[in-house]
Amino acid sequence: MAKIDRITEEGKEAIVDLLNKGIHAEYGMVMNYPRIIDQISNIDESQSEEFINGAERFGKDSFRHSTIVAKLIEELGGEPEFEMLTIDRMVDIHSLLIAQLGYEKLAESLYKEARLIAQNNQAKAKGLFGKLMSIGEDPKKDVSRSEVIEKLKRLELDEVGHAKRVETMLIQINIEPGKKDS
Ligand SMILES: [Fe+2]
Repeated sequence: MAKIDRITEEGKEAIVDLLNKGIHAEYGMVMNYPRIIDQISNIDESQSEEFINGAERFGKDSFRHSTIVAKLIEELGGEPEFEMLTIDRMVDIHSLLIAQLGYEKLAESLYKEARLIAQNNQAKAKGLFGKLMSIGEDPKKDVSRSEVIEKLKRLELDEVGHAKRVETMLIQINIEPGKKDS
């Protein structure tokens, strides 16, 4: 049976589960970046603008990601789960950045795992089209496998870049006098 550019129903469900975890990670990051900026501003007024701008960009990217991921979940037939997170109050910039790095790496691994599921769960013509026709759906409406893989690849690459930049921020924090990890 010919394979088509669609993901199996089981594959879609598994991807939706991972992407909902991705939304939680992105939300954690959205909430964490203002704290990082706040801590930097409190620690040293002369702190470079570049560092703060960089942190703001991360926050915006995470928010953008949560929107993309929510839309992708819907395209896969799932329901995005938005949840408010409670994060422990952390007072030092080093702990905040370490937490951030954890979120970035978690997001990266979730998107990667989701992409591998999309790659390994390609639907065959008969099953999917037969199923869609039986419930009166237009098969063209179903999101394509290649599109899902492409979106997940882009998210994954963004997170790889973010993690590298957080690592750079950690180095910057630790080498500047007066901002060492306590
Ligand atoms: Fe990120």
